[in-house]
Amino acid sequence: MFEDFLKMTLQDFIPKAYKNSIKKGSYTWSSPSNIALVKYWGKRDPQIPENPSISFTLDHCKTTTTLSFSKKQEKNDFSFEIYLDGDKKESFKPKIETFFKRVADYLPFLKDYHFVIETSNSFPHSSGIASSASGMSALSLCLMSIEKELNEDVSDAFFIQKASFLARLGSGSACRSLEGDLVVWGQHDAINGSSDLYGVKYPFEVHENFKNYRDTILLVDKGEKQVSSTVGHNLMHDHPFAKERFDQAKTNLERLIPILKEGDLEAFIKIVESEALTLHAMMMTSMPYFILMKPNTLEIINKIWAFREKTDSKICFTLDAGANVHVLYPAYESDQVSEFIKNELVAFCQKGHYISDRIGFGANQLTMKN
Ligand code: PMV
Repeated sequence: MFEDFLKMTLQDFIPKAYKNSIKKGSYTWSSPSNIALVKYWGKRDPQIPENPSISFTLDHCKTTTTLSFSKKQEKNDFSFEIYLDGDKKESFKPKIETFFKRVADYLPFLKDYHFVIETSNSFPHSSGIASSASGMSALSLCLMSIEKELNEDVSDAFFIQKASFLARLGSGSACRSLEGDLVVWGQHDAINGSSDLYGVKYPFEVHENFKNYRDTILLVDKGEKQVSSTVGHNLMHDHPFAKERFDQAKTNLERLIPILKEGDLEAFIKIVESEALTLHAMMMTSMPYFILMKPNTLEIINKIWAFREKTDSKICFTLDAGANVHVLYPAYESDQVSEFIKNELVAFCQKGHYISDRIGFGANQLTMKN
């Protein structure tokens, strides 16, 4: 039954013969990063999440990608160059090659062109902030712009849905970066339209408390992670607590629905912080086990708890697959929390660096075709 659903839906992303032919062109998209509230950790082929997740789309942390393309004679292989901030990046090639292979059936024009991918991030490359979500999302949108030019029947809704579908095949969480301000990825009976294949905008009412929410990202460790997300996801296959964890994520997502509607910040904090610590608990209880938090990650968490105890602040934290801490708080607490961050938390950041971000509304196209 599930297989049928998957097959049928996958077919929908395979285009019919294109109507138009184009020789060359260029598209630019800018796409934000996102931070999960209920975490995705564990997947099976092809990039199908073991549990549904939900994220806030960010605003300032983003990747801008220009994809230029020109028709080539030979059609037997992928052909592309990739640049980060103007510098050729051979090291990015394997990831893009894997991505192209995964999406080739859905974008039959891929072998017809030579591509130049020029990308830049609004955040420093060595900040410990993963650029795969924003990067894969921006690249997928550029590819969809080409598909739309080849076949202008593509509707706006399908454009976004397929771009999210493609982004997922590049990096799972990337499929949650195209729209805002809350996006769900992964089939959940309580969320109509949710799918394992692409992200969808959270469809229910959200209380004012969560509008314009803030995320200050404290850069605790800007180095390369010792264990990649891919390895971490795979370690969930034989994980002793996998089933309980996947069930818990489903329950947490369902519990968030009334919390988001009613603006219940205390209940929100409990779920979000528990999700962050559970993600890292899964890492610590994998075989082989690993720890991505650093001593300063724990210092910050303890300071946040002490501050909450002392004041009536609704500040909380979440973590992604690294040592950095995302500090989340409602917009109306901005002044008070900014002071607290400057006075008490910045000392635990590498070189005192942090990024002030907030909830955003998704990707933007920057230029039209040349
Ligand atoms: O998209 P990936 O494969 O880099 O995995 C991301 C996993 C987490 O950031 C830890 C959680 C999430 O849901 O974004």
